[in-house]
Amino acid sequence: MTVRAVAITGAAAGIGRATALRFARDGWSVGAFDVDEAGLASLADAIRGAAGSVHTGVLDVTDAGQWRERLAEFVEVSGGRLDVLVNNAGVLASGPFAQTDPARHRAMIDVNVGGVVNGCVAAYPHLAATPGSVLVNLCSASAIYGQPDLATYSATKFAVRGLTEALELEWRTVGIRVLAVWPLFVQTAMVEGMHTGAVASLGVRLTADDVADEIVSAVGKGRRLPTVHYPVGRQARAMMLASRFAPAWLSRAINSRLTRM
Ligand SMILES: NC(=O)c1ccc[n+]([C@@H]2O[C@H](COP(=O)([O-])OP(=O)(O)OC[C@H]3O[C@@H](n4cnc5c(N)ncnc54)[C@H](O)[C@@H]3O)[C@@H](O)[C@H]2O)c1
Repeated sequence: MTVRAVAITGAAAGIGRATALRFARDGWSVGAFDVDEAGLASLADAIRGAAGSVHTGVLDVTDAGQWRERLAEFVEVSGGRLDVLVNNAGVLASGPFAQTDPARHRAMIDVNVGGVVNGCVAAYPHLAATPGSVLVNLCSASAIYGQPDLATYSATKFAVRGLTEALELEWRTVGIRVLAVWPLFVQTAMVEGMHTGAVASLGVRLTADDVADEIVSAVGKGRRLPTVHYPVGRQARAMMLASRFAPAWLSRAINSRLTRM
């Protein structure tokens, strides 16, 4: 029986860890990558403790060379397959734009956009060589409308949205399905201590497991009717639907109200 292979970045914690555990439970060969070595070791213990298969590697997604090396190592142990890449690693800084350290603005662009582009470049030959492969990018409900106090983060997720839409059209010709998963706020370290108007209005209702379930379900969907964007949870689904039909002035007014402190 063929064992399918999934590579996941940012797998040491939060959504990446939950996704790695979920794929491992379903019998996939998991390649787990992160800059956090201790977190990866704890994940590997959990997967192996449940008789799952995992290969870990330290990977800073901003480093294109490390991407090439880590994926080559994983594909070597997975029998030449890369069925799914989950571009999950991300960073967030919240607060007023002008008072945010420029280095933190830069880091969000480097990791959330540069890291995803690097991943797409490095994974392409492996995905193209694996029939039925899927690329999953972690987008966010903050790519529906620009978010005050999350301006650069939100902008990076608009970039992920654009990249996903473009590659979905470009790569279907070589048989790679491309999709984006869109959670609203999720209970992970990323949002701990975050005080924004949107969190105050909408709360933090999703768990990392909710997002992992959506990723696994989206990967398992058929190809006949291509769906590109997968909102996670009722709030994100309602917001995405509203954004499709509301006129621009109404979208702005709703976002102004929801994000007010
Ligand atoms: N938490 C939320 O509310 C939320 C909502 C929507 C989308 N997302 C997206 O989901 C993804 C995962 O977020 P999370 O909430 O699990 O965050 P998290 O902070 O819990 O985990 C992020 C992981 O990424 C790793 N990481 C950070 N920089 C890295 C780098 N340069 N190279 C490799 N790994 C790196 C961290 O070590 C950590 O293990 C991100 O892309 C995030 O933008 C999160």
